[in-house]
Amino acid sequence: MAELRIDLVCVVPQLFGEFLSTSIVGRAQEKGLVEIVVHNLHEYASDRFRHIDDTPYGGGGGMIIQCEPVFSCIEQLQGERSYDDVIYLCPDGEQLHQGICTQLSTQRNLIFLAGHYKGIDQRIRDLLVTREISIGDYVLTGGEIAAAVLTDAVVRLIPGAVGDASSVLDDSFMHGLLDAPHYTKPQVFRGHAVPDVLLSGDHQRITAWRTEQSLEKTRTRRPDLLE
Ligand code: ADE
Repeated sequence: MAELRIDLVCVVPQLFGEFLSTSIVGRAQEKGLVEIVVHNLHEYASDRFRHIDDTPYGGGGGMIIQCEPVFSCIEQLQGERSYDDVIYLCPDGEQLHQGICTQLSTQRNLIFLAGHYKGIDQRIRDLLVTREISIGDYVLTGGEIAAAVLTDAVVRLIPGAVGDASSVLDDSFMHGLLDAPHYTKPQVFRGHAVPDVLLSGDHQRITAWRTEQSLEKTRTRRPDLLE
């Protein structure tokens, strides 16, 4: 059995496109580290036109996803296994950061619920959802892309998902700092040379240089991380 199972419950599954079968997320599934299952809410609609949304009570623009299909889908899943969290992706959720991803990567079963249109009926949030996450202060057309972002950020942290584990440990945010600059061949490109220290073979000096670069970049770009 996979380390982690993620059920993606959404309105427009096509938006996941090649994402689920490509790169680290694709390989992590092939390696059996994660099982990802997509559920189309239209398949849980009770009417023959597969409607899953309606106009908001009290008026206003946009369509709201109804309780029925979401409860039907998620309660069916919950009847099959117990879930650590039912996470709703929404712009008014808790803002995503690396610490949340690390914590989620240690769980066994997660549901990511992606809304679309104006939003979902509040009773879904009150009664089914256990956690609400935003990927940033901007509004997307739907939660699918946010769910893909969360899936990617979580899956790459499962041990074995990224071939070289030390590469993940060095990532930006893993130590509360932004990542240091990286260079590869050629040594000189259009007159711009790789910093000498990286060619020195002195690992202590290289680590010290990277830490200093990380700190400097964090100080200038994200001073809030140092507070
Ligand atoms: N759905 C729409 N906008 C979103 C955001 N910024 N984060 C998560 N889900 C969303």
